Amino acid sequence: MTAVSLAGVSKVFNQGRADEVTALSDVDLTVDSGQFVSLIGPSGCGKSTLLRLIADLIEPTAGTVAVAGKPAGQARREQEYGIAFQQAGLFEWRTVRRNVELPLELRKIPRQRRRERAEEMLTLVGLSDFGGHYPAQLSGGMQQRVAIARALAVHPPLLLMDEPFGALDEMTRERLQHELLQICAKTGTSTVFVTHSISEAVFLSDQVVVMSARPGRITARIDIDLPSRDESARQSPAYFDAITAVRKALRS
Ligand SMILES: Nc1ncnc2c1ncn2[C@@H]1O[C@H](COP(=O)(O)OP(=O)(O)O)[C@@H](O)[C@H]1O
Ligand SMILES: [Mg+2]
Repeated sequence: MTAVSLAGVSKVFNQGRADEVTALSDVDLTVDSGQFVSLIGPSGCGKSTLLRLIADLIEPTAGTVAVAGKPAGQARREQEYGIAFQQAGLFEWRTVRRNVELPLELRKIPRQRRRERAEEMLTLVGLSDFGGHYPAQLSGGMQQRVAIARALAVHPPLLLMDEPFGALDEMTRERLQHELLQICAKTGTSTVFVTHSISEAVFLSDQVVVMSARPGRITARIDIDLPSRDESARQSPAYFDAITAVRKALRS
């Protein structure tokens, strides 16, 4: 099964105006079901644009975007994916539990079922004791975990993440990377993950997609094959080789 499929996708902002920007040019991308794919490239190369096209938050100027074999708009309406962005984006006046319940409320899931699902998701991200807290009472890393729990609450087949750990310290970031991989493995979720960290992309991904700026294009696809995805992977020769390969692709 194919989770995401982009064919010949281009995106031009402000078309025909003096400030016209070709953010993406002729992008083909396939993410298989259950695969973890990272997008990496210099600032402004169109990573967020690509993610927003998949999420149907914006429309392509040319080409087609399919999610789970459906047009992106239909996939959005049928909630085929969850989204987590760099800022956790929690509602300050809602408790942690009620933040996680929000997508379920929008889906008109009955209250009892919502509660259960929120508890389940909070347990998954290690925050079962914090359901009654407000976001401001949590650390940045905890808030980011709430955002991930919320993104996963409807059990989406696809997770879209835009630099979700960018604002976190190195230790927290590594722990969340590890947790994310476990969650994805447990739930079989496919993931498209934007980052500008080479080591993060390599540790997490089955494939790293390297992009270049102006106009944004895919310049390399590097398959990552680590012996394991636990902390020991960060010491393995395969890990360092993959980091070198991605770095080279980014430079060329
Ligand atoms: N809504 C928009 N209107 C005009 N230009 C945009 C818009 N969104 C993004 N861009 C431009 O498209 C290019 C790619 O942006 P973006 O996808 O945010 O890059 P990245 O996430 O890789 O840093 C940039 O030149 C940016 O200025
Ligand atoms: Mg971006």
